[in-house]
Amino acid sequence: MNTPDFKRNIYCGEPRSADIGRTLTVCGWVQRNRDLGGLIFIDLRDRTGILQLAFDDNTSREIFSEAMTVRAEFVLKATGTLRERSSKNPDLPTGDVELEVTALNILSKAETPPFEIVENSDVNDALRLKYRYLDLRRPDMQRLFALRHKAAKVTRDYFDENGFYEIETPILTKSTPEGARDYLVPSRVHKGKFYALPQSPQQYKQLLMLAGFDKYLQIVKCFRDEDLRADRQPEFTQIDLEMSFVDMEDIIKINEGYMKRIFKDILDVEVKLPIARLTYREAIDRFGSDKPDLRFSLELSDISDIVKNCEFKVFAEPVANGGSVRMLYVPGGGSMPRKQIDSLVEFVKTYGAKGLAWTKLSEDGSVSSSYSKFLTDAENEQILKRAGAEAGCLVLIVADPKEDVVFASLGALRIECAKRLNMIPQGVYEFVWITEFPMFEYSEEEERYVAKHHPFTAPMDEDMHLLESDKANCRAKQYDLVLNGTELGSGSIRINTPEMQEQVFRAVGLTPEEANEKFSHLITAFKYGAPPHGGIAYGLDRLVAHLAGLGSIRDVIAFPKVQNASEVMTACPDEVDEKQLEELGIKVCDSEH
Ligand code: AMO
Ligand code: AMP
Repeated sequence: MNTPDFKRNIYCGEPRSADIGRTLTVCGWVQRNRDLGGLIFIDLRDRTGILQLAFDDNTSREIFSEAMTVRAEFVLKATGTLRERSSKNPDLPTGDVELEVTALNILSKAETPPFEIVENSDVNDALRLKYRYLDLRRPDMQRLFALRHKAAKVTRDYFDENGFYEIETPILTKSTPEGARDYLVPSRVHKGKFYALPQSPQQYKQLLMLAGFDKYLQIVKCFRDEDLRADRQPEFTQIDLEMSFVDMEDIIKINEGYMKRIFKDILDVEVKLPIARLTYREAIDRFGSDKPDLRFSLELSDISDIVKNCEFKVFAEPVANGGSVRMLYVPGGGSMPRKQIDSLVEFVKTYGAKGLAWTKLSEDGSVSSSYSKFLTDAENEQILKRAGAEAGCLVLIVADPKEDVVFASLGALRIECAKRLNMIPQGVYEFVWITEFPMFEYSEEEERYVAKHHPFTAPMDEDMHLLESDKANCRAKQYDLVLNGTELGSGSIRINTPEMQEQVFRAVGLTPEEANEKFSHLITAFKYGAPPHGGIAYGLDRLVAHLAGLGSIRDVIAFPKVQNASEVMTACPDEVDEKQLEELGIKVCDSEH
């Protein structure tokens, strides 16, 4: 009998010609088993790759018959002598060698898996997620998690070299207003009271600055009960940092160094420094978005001044009602057939636009337009002149009394046109810092101004006087790092006096009593010596997805949630025992069942 131990002396992906003649022991999963009569080949797989195990005339009959019973995904340990392969496989790093097996242990049998464990599988997502542990066995998934590990390691190394301490902050925390919806955890000891899972360690990291730690880093789980999207999960990981005695320039500098380092170490890509900067206003005006994708150059322009007195009500009225008329100029867009343009009209409607006006210049100089007949020749000419219109282009116009609708629809249209016209280069990384964000945004739902970032962000010095008198125009010391149209990270310089903190709480409509009830710890802390401080947090999942060239963060999270925030494999969330609820003093009154 073979000894039942399971110690190997090499990984499957490692043996090379130089190892020929060595006695090797490997462990892993069976990729496939080819039985050619007197000859059996088993491909054995572990996280490093595949090695061919060979069984032939030289193999003992006992081992040979054992090998015949082996099926895909059985777990094996095999010992043997490495020899040269007679028919080499140039596609496999171990393709020059094979293991002539002299001892074989079946460590575990496997049922036929619901899908084959192969690279780039086209199995449907639901099945992949139900059997996530099998999905994760696929070599491409294994590589993604190696990459994620390396990204976290490079991050820790870089910030350690720059004097940051990694400090853990609590997961059971106090629910505070502002931000997304909290996940709540009921307390057994304090019936009727709840902890909240942290949406970010924001307040704790600021308190760590007050505690004198100077530079803090944490790779940390955050929880937000918000709608799930390709770049959003209810449970995600932040690279969270905070620094004392710094201004925005210091924070930007250390973070540019970080981007340079991580893109170099992981992709061997040189990030050019300094990273470009745009103010929020400029980003919105030119690209219709505060996270513009700068890999392509389509831009928006304002034509309100040209059409504000025109006869065409669709254009004139929104301007008169405080809105605007803006256009997106698309060189080469004139090649789009009418049907495609019609679908763009439908596309902008999903962003709240009431319509889309367009002019198309063909290569041969002919013009077609949905609106030109409603304008004077001079007005039409001015619009095309402002666009710098050339043959073969498309001009797309949205008019709306709400500026937000104009920007959101043209911003989305900009990306849609770039996609349709293949204008987005792959393998290109366009970073940009967005600065001078508005301090507040108006929430229609709550009918009040809320903090755009969070209420701990400091206003810009020159806008301090607008805090109460003109909230809409008060700018914050906030900066976001955007990569290829994704917000990778977001941060700010913080308030560090109790007076200003109270003032900002007041500005977002918190009464002094409410502010005191929710944030007294912070306001009190600021009374005992608060250094000037600021920081930033990145989405690690988003960063890794970009490093891996993926559009969704789901594939870089080992056990992600699906659209309705459930986890398919373990079927959670789930009901709990009556007894558990009783202990917590909780009664479920509105269950769906
Ligand atoms: P913010 O809320 O902008 O800032 O979050 C920082 C970064 O975290 C990532 N992120 C997410 N990733 C995946 N799924 C989500 N649901 C999700 N939500 C956010 C994004 C985002 O840029 N405390 C502040 C940071 C600070 O001021 O220092 C904060 O949390 O990449
Ligand atoms: P109509 O007079 O409704 O036929 O509209 C004339 C053109 O204006 C059509 O191409 C419409 O799609 C376009 N249009 C309608 N509403 C808007 C709007 N809010 N912004 C831009 N174009 C619009």
